Amino acid sequence: MPQTEIGTDVDQAAALLRVGKLVAFGTETVYGLGANALDADAVAGVFAAKGRPSFDPLIVHIADPDDIDRVAASRPAVADRLIAEFWPGPLTLVLPKRPEIPDLVTSGLETVAVRRPGSRMARTLIRAAGVPVAAPSANPFGGVSPTTAVHVRDGLDGRLDYILDTGPCDVGVESTVLAFDGDTPVLLRPGGVSREAIATLTGRVLDPAGEDAADDRPRASPGTLERHYAPRTPLVVVAPQAFESPVKSELRKAGQRVGILTFGEKSIGIEDADAIEHLSDTGGSSEQAAHNLFAALRRLDAAGVDLILAEAAPDSGLGVAINDRLRRASAFTRQSGHGSGG
Ligand code: TXA
Ligand code: MG
Repeated sequence: MPQTEIGTDVDQAAALLRVGKLVAFGTETVYGLGANALDADAVAGVFAAKGRPSFDPLIVHIADPDDIDRVAASRPAVADRLIAEFWPGPLTLVLPKRPEIPDLVTSGLETVAVRRPGSRMARTLIRAAGVPVAAPSANPFGGVSPTTAVHVRDGLDGRLDYILDTGPCDVGVESTVLAFDGDTPVLLRPGGVSREAIATLTGRVLDPAGEDAADDRPRASPGTLERHYAPRTPLVVVAPQAFESPVKSELRKAGQRVGILTFGEKSIGIEDADAIEHLSDTGGSSEQAAHNLFAALRRLDAAGVDLILAEAAPDSGLGVAINDRLRRASAFTRQSGHGSGG
């Protein structure tokens, strides 16, 4: 089968979206697999291409500030302050939905997730398409999110109509997803806007209600499954202070090939690794590490190691989103306790 075309023709991409085709495009966070959000058949194609379960709702992307009123029926006052501060950018708001948004987009929920991406080319595409664009990350369900056009083709070749190459993604982890309990934000997914930055603006940031909670605070996103963002290779997250732990030497005695993912540059104890990725320079930032995260996981996967040992990031700023992704990437390894990735 011919490869799905990768190109830079925004008008062609917009025309395809308008007629119900699937177009991947870069945003500042990760590449999205886009479809006309008002076209239920096109949206069904997104779920099919990804192998995504229909209970996991999509984010609707808009180009211009006023477009929010085509998607969401209302919003609390605090949403306008968040929009003024963080849009366009990596912040998704969960709001009451308008009836025009098909149930498939929201998995039957009364709310819709809306975001105005920071990438100018993404906004140009959506504006040219003339419709809001539903887009999950452009990877097979559960896998590592793509941050380049080639990553998209590696995962979904032949299952979409065009890949708009907007260059490598800047932020590198997905948007922060916020719902609201009255006028107070509820953090459903840590992401490109840090919890601290939101709290500076709003005071409090709540956590979602648990499974058996009786209150009406928003629940965790249906899509925050335990195993997610996962490479094929089993992955174990190691606390920074335990990084030189005996685990590695035991594995080597057993003849296993080990890949290592560190937050910053480290010199001790890793010379003998079969593959090494540093997410940031010495004294590097969590922003730099987030930018590099998914591509580094892909390279370790391609290196053919038996196990990836990943150092946890400092638990603040974008480090929270990094650790969330690493924890989910490791879920299968933790559950099964052995080394065959899913
Ligand atoms: O940065 C991003 O957000 C990227 C780019 C492409 O925009 N998109 C992305 O989409 O990460 P996806 O589908 O991989 O993740 C969307 C998340 C899921 O966890 C989903 O469950 C949640 O948003 N979500 C969507 N609609 C929701 C709703 N109405 N209520 C609660 N959670 C919702
Ligand atoms: Mg995703």
